[in-house]
Amino acid sequence: MPSAPHSSRVRKSKIANDAPGLFFRSFLERPKEVGSIIPSSRFLERRVTRCARLDKARVVVELGPGTGGTTQALLRAMRPDAKLLSIEINPRLAERVSHRITDPRLIVHCGSATDLADALAAYGLSAPDAVISGIPFSTMPRPVARGILRAIRDNLAPTGCFVPYQVRDKVAVLAREVFAPPSRVELEVRNVPPMRVYRFEAGSSPSRSPRLR
Ligand SMILES: C[S@@+](CC[C@H](N)C(=O)[O-])C[C@H]1O[C@@H](n2cnc3c(N)ncnc32)[C@H](O)[C@@H]1O
Repeated sequence: MPSAPHSSRVRKSKIANDAPGLFFRSFLERPKEVGSIIPSSRFLERRVTRCARLDKARVVVELGPGTGGTTQALLRAMRPDAKLLSIEINPRLAERVSHRITDPRLIVHCGSATDLADALAAYGLSAPDAVISGIPFSTMPRPVARGILRAIRDNLAPTGCFVPYQVRDKVAVLAREVFAPPSRVELEVRNVPPMRVYRFEAGSSPSRSPRLR
């Protein structure tokens, strides 16, 4: 009979190897909520972590970790004393990330990004220096998307940033009501499909349209 450490290693690698399968099954079950059939590539992960300047961040929030590939990339780029709060709406995916990653800097919260303020308070975290988002703004109901953007605006640290990555530009269109135009827009063509990465600065206000209430 294998020893406990060995069997836990086997279980962990099985969990990691099955990640693309679980991701695809989750997409088939909830296509609009998951928004993609495969997880992000290494190229996109690197671009997102650079754009968010995670090496300087103390508190980071990830919205929609999926099966946890991006979560691991964020943790690799973060300081040893930083904290990462990953908020995932799908209970099966949230459980998978918790089992797959045992890094003490990580807190996995099962719930909606709309509840960002409550989640930060529940874990005693200060205002995040970066909020990174892979959630599909283009397929979610508009009021939900707006609620999430307001929650991000209201909870970011004064020098913080919001870094969403998306196939379409819907998030940038909606964010115009909440933030000033993005300080960076990049395209990662080596991801399948090619993905836009935006950086919005905290404390920046939209120039023309009124702020969302
Ligand atoms: C396109 S996947 C991104 C997964 C992973 N971050 C990546 O880039 O490979 C979007 C994820 O967002 C989650 N999600 C969708 N709406 C959400 C919400 N309102 N709050 C939290 N997570 C959400 C989905 O369940 C899914 O895991």
